[in-house]
Amino acid sequence: MKKQDVLKKGKAKTVYSTDDADKLILHFRNDTSAFDGEKIEQLARKGMVNNRFNAFIMQTLEKAGIPTQFEKLLSDDEVLVKKLDMIPVECVVRNIAAGSIVRRLGVKDGMELNPPTFEFFLKNDALHDPMINEYHIRSFNWATDAEVVRMKELTFRINDILSKLFKDAGLLLVDYKLEFGRYRGEIILGDEFSPDGCRLWDARSREKLDKDRFRQGLGGVVEAYEEVARRLGIDLA
Ligand code: TMP
Ligand code: ASP
Repeated sequence: MKKQDVLKKGKAKTVYSTDDADKLILHFRNDTSAFDGEKIEQLARKGMVNNRFNAFIMQTLEKAGIPTQFEKLLSDDEVLVKKLDMIPVECVVRNIAAGSIVRRLGVKDGMELNPPTFEFFLKNDALHDPMINEYHIRSFNWATDAEVVRMKELTFRINDILSKLFKDAGLLLVDYKLEFGRYRGEIILGDEFSPDGCRLWDARSREKLDKDRFRQGLGGVVEAYEEVARRLGIDLA
């Protein structure tokens, strides 16, 4: 598979076209961004760690019957994926209150959410990813009603699969963000799943092992990601 043009340079990944019109290459860079790109730093090894982490999670989800864009690992920091028509909406599930929901609703940080809650956000940094609802998605034609139903269904199935996976590794899956796209008439999981886009706490101490370490300047960011990978049995280079 030949890498061709840069189609998009995101905050942490670069997307390349390939000689196959149905496939893209994602390059996981070391760039780490928070607050919609306001804070950006390069963290050594992060591209490699997230690429391998993402590959492991996507393959785990595929085995559990979730359709994903993952095709194969190409190198330490590159992956071959299906080219999706991305839906500009972020799907967030929260099992424990943290981050923006604590600020927005004044609820207690760390409180268990039973049942878990679900939120949609618009993928738009300039607008700081505002929260939206299903009526916005419908009125602005970001996705059809059937696609919304399918995204919610897949996002909750993924919660069951990954909450158990992390629990068995002594971790709490606090919350996470997913993005979906269309491929040959189907809704498929796109983007990435890594500690950049979820919150993971040690189950006993509740120590943060995700990008909140970067957002909050706690240090040891990549070391924490590597610790999570080690607990999941992911082979890092
Ligand atoms: P929040 O608490 O900032 O709303 O984020 C909830 C979860 O979703 C958290 O794990 C971070 C992730 N997330 C992203 O990765 N990117 C985003 O743009 C948003 C809104 C959330
Ligand atoms: N992913 C967004 C950014 O890079 C939001 C965040 O994770 O804080 O700015």
